This record gives sequence, structure tokens and C-alpha cells, in this order.
Amino acid sequence: MSKNLNNHLQRSTAALLVRIDGRSRVGLQQQIYAAVRRGILSSVIKSGTRLPSSRALAEDLCVSRTTTLLAYEQLTAEGYLTTRSGSGTFVADEIPDDLARTTASRPSASKHPPLSRRGTAMAAMPSAWRRLPGSSRPFRAGVPGLDLFPLRLWSQLVNRRLRSVTIAQLDYNDAAGFPDLRAAIAEHVQAARGTRVGADQVLIVAGAQRAFDLACSMLLDSGDKAWLEEPGYPGARSALVGAGARIVPVRVDEHGLDVDSGIRRAPDARLAYVTPSHQFPLGVPMTLTRRLALLKWANAAGAWVVEDDYDSEFRYGTRAIPCLHGLDVEGRVIYIGSFSKTLFPALRLGFMIVPGDLRDRMLSARRATDVHPQLLDQAVLADFIAGGHFERHLRRMRTAYRERLDALVAATTRYCGGGLQIRPVTTGLHAVADLSGADALAVSEEAYARGVEAAPLERYCITPSRAANALVLGFAAVRPEGFRNGMERLAAAIDAARRGQRRGTERRGAPAKRDSATRRVAHSV
Ligand SMILES: Cc1ncc(COP(=O)(O)O)c(C=O)c1O
Repeated sequence: MSKNLNNHLQRSTAALLVRIDGRSRVGLQQQIYAAVRRGILSSVIKSGTRLPSSRALAEDLCVSRTTTLLAYEQLTAEGYLTTRSGSGTFVADEIPDDLARTTASRPSASKHPPLSRRGTAMAAMPSAWRRLPGSSRPFRAGVPGLDLFPLRLWSQLVNRRLRSVTIAQLDYNDAAGFPDLRAAIAEHVQAARGTRVGADQVLIVAGAQRAFDLACSMLLDSGDKAWLEEPGYPGARSALVGAGARIVPVRVDEHGLDVDSGIRRAPDARLAYVTPSHQFPLGVPMTLTRRLALLKWANAAGAWVVEDDYDSEFRYGTRAIPCLHGLDVEGRVIYIGSFSKTLFPALRLGFMIVPGDLRDRMLSARRATDVHPQLLDQAVLADFIAGGHFERHLRRMRTAYRERLDALVAATTRYCGGGLQIRPVTTGLHAVADLSGADALAVSEEAYARGVEAAPLERYCITPSRAANALVLGFAAVRPEGFRNGMERLAAAIDAARRGQRRGTERRGAPAKRDSATRRVAHSV
């Protein structure tokens, strides 16, 4: 490149970067300084780049030479620029790291110091749910029917509490949680989940996820083994990863977690995470025999059992199965409940029922983390339960979810025929649907492209190739009339996936690699 052209480019780049605002209260020198600095930190002007001379820049910007000279001097003093005698002014080879980190408008990850090994592993975890934009979508899983939440009543309760806040309520409060709420939860759990607990055993937390995190970090040392249901809940997996646990995936069959398989694989595990009332995501309840076997192993091995009872309040035509905690005589089970499904996820309130000797130590540890959840929300929730609204809401939602489930099944039969078979649903807010003739991963991608959220079952597996060829379909988040349109789009997604597979097979002249029939034979669940 000729010297003249090079010079011209330098001048025009700098002139483009620096826009002088004659009406600004910021001085001209400061404007030039800030613009060049911004250009350097955002890598628009790269290290080693030669800048136009202060005289040339002054001419381009129609300012005095002293103005550009002083701006360059300031940038040089701060380490952004360097001058080489006889050659001109250059962007420094090494921009001060601390400045780049704190002031860059586009942070550069490579300049950050590395995360801890745990942090890196946690950051790499997939989120529990893949969401399309918008507040509700057909088959969105993990979300209750927010359209039916009694928002006006909730707002009234919030306002009433706000108007009567006391000075004491502004202070640090009980780390175990708002006493009235703990008492209300103890009563509810006893009546609805068949386990006798005192309010002092209940610990209020910011959602079940917080409880997993607290339990895992309190009970596991890095490298300890922990059983996780396979397939299982990614949120629990993240908490185990965060505690540095060695996760041992344990298969789930039609009786729930296969305890014998867990004992064969890791008899010395220190913790087992289970969803015995409604296995996530398969939906099967754990049989009594398996529950007793799990407790027997935990007692003998000195292990903890974390029972996640996330959505068992919603049952369709079946009686409630009491929770595992009710069978525990040795104090091995930590019971975790959440209001994310019964009320709404943004409430971020859940609870743990913790054996007495562990409780005090958990409370002390909690002071090193979040101290306690927002008091106002806890108080409003206590009022909601005490006023009978919680029970009323659950009753109403059971009926609504039954209708939504029926609408899902009817739409599946109508639009997908035998290509998509919903497994029987007795509990909860989602269904598992087996696919035939189309690969679940391909169908899921096609469905998302059509604005429908249908997660492949393998998304919940540590070893995806072991998963049955099935989709996980939420039925709680949309009104029954939404299923028709949603299922039409899902049927189109299945067709598109089948066509894609056929094309792939023809091209290769051999059976498709991820043939769904083969995968189905390999898996009974
Ligand atoms: C299996 C399972 N456990 C727990 C939760 C609830 O988590 P949180 O209370 O943190 O919202 C969910 C929510 O989707 C879930 O699917």
C-alpha cells in the first residue's frame, strides 16, 4: 500500500471514530480522548495500529493542534498509546488488562482470568428448559397455567402486607424463614403428603434449585459420588456439578429408580437424588419395594436421599402416594418442595424439610449465602395459604389441567395418529410421547423452527443414546384450544423430520444411523 493511501486511511478512520459534538458540555480534548480510548478498548483500532499525527487529526477534525496533542498525551500517559521517535504514534501492544476488563464496552472473554474448575463446569451445563420467545407456547414444559393464577387477589395481599410493614420486618429476619409460612407449610405437607413434621424442621428457600444447591454443597465433598436418575432433572445435575460431585447416572424403569443398579454401580455414593412421587421426566411413581430398598441402602451406606417432590399435587384419577420422607425413620431423607408449579416460578419460593441435627448447621451455613429469602413474599404466601386460597387454587388447577391433558391427548390422536403415542399420565404437568418413524431430536428441531417447544427425552439424559425415542410435552401452560394449532405444527414437524431422514437414507443407501425403531427396542422406558 502506498504511503499516501495508508496515511489517508489512518486519517479517515480516526476522523470517523471521533465525532466532535460542538454543543456538548464535554471539552474537545476530552471528546477526542474518549473516542480513541473507546475505539481501542472495543478493538476497532487494533494494537500496533499507527494513528494519524496530531497535526493531521487536528486538520481533519477542525480543532487546534494543541487539543489533539493533549488528548494523545493523556492516552499515552495512561498506556493506550505509545510514541516511537521518528515513526509516529501507535496503539500500545499491551493494553492495561485491568482497564480493558473494567471499561471495555464489548468485554473480551479471553482477557478474563479463568473460572474455577467448578465454575467452568457449571457454566457449561445446559439449562433445564429451552425456550422460544413469548410468555406461553404449546407444549412448554416446566411451567404451570399462569393464565389462571389469581393475580388480582395476590396483588391485594401484597398491598395489604406492604401497608403494614413493621420496623422489625426491615431487619435481618429468621434464617429458617417466616414463622407463619413454616407453620402453614408443615400443616399442608402433613395433610397432603403424609409426613408428620414440625414447623421448626421446615426451612424456606428461594426455590427448589436453591435447596439442591444448599444440600449438595453442605453434604458433598468434591469427588464424592452421587446417584442421579437417568433420565433426570438437569437442575439437580447442575447442583451436583456445582458441588464437584462425581455423578453416577442410575437407570429408571417402570418401578422408578433401579436401586439395585445404583448399588452395583456405586454402593459407596454419599447422596441419591430422586423424584419418587412423579419421576422427572418419565412420570412413573417409585414403587414401595423400591422406596424401602432405597432407604435400606441409604441407612447402611450412611448416604443422604434428596427427595424432590416438585409437582405431585396434581393427580388425575389416582390417589396421592405419600412421600418418601414419611417412610424415613433414620433421618436420611431431605424433602424438597417448590411453589413454582403450584403457584408461579417467579415467586422463587420453596422449602426443605431437614432432619433436626442437620437443620441448625444448615442455618449457620445459610448465613454465608443468601441469609433468607425476601420477607415480603414469604409473608404474602403465608397469608395466601392461611386464607384458604392455596387449597382453592390447587383444586381449580387440578380440574383445568385435567382438561388440558385431555385436549393434548385428543389433539395427538387427531393430528399425529399412531406416529406419536402419549404414555399414560396420572400426575404432574407434562407427558412423555413416543415417536415412531421419526427421530425425536430431528422432530424437536423442526418443532422449534415452527414455534412449538417439544424437547427430546434424550435432553434429560447424561448418556443420550440410551434414551427412548420420545418427546417431553408440557400441557399446563396453554389453554385447551391452543393444542389444536400446536399439534398441527408438531405433526408438520414430524413429517418434515421423516422426509429429512428418508433423504439422508437414500443418499447413504443404508438405514438411517439414528433409526428410531432400533432405539425403541433398546429401551423399555
Ligand atoms: C424436577 C423438578 N424439580 C424442581 C423444580 C422446581 O424448581 P424451582 O423451585 O427452583 O423453580 C422443577 C421445575 O421445573 C422440576 O422440574
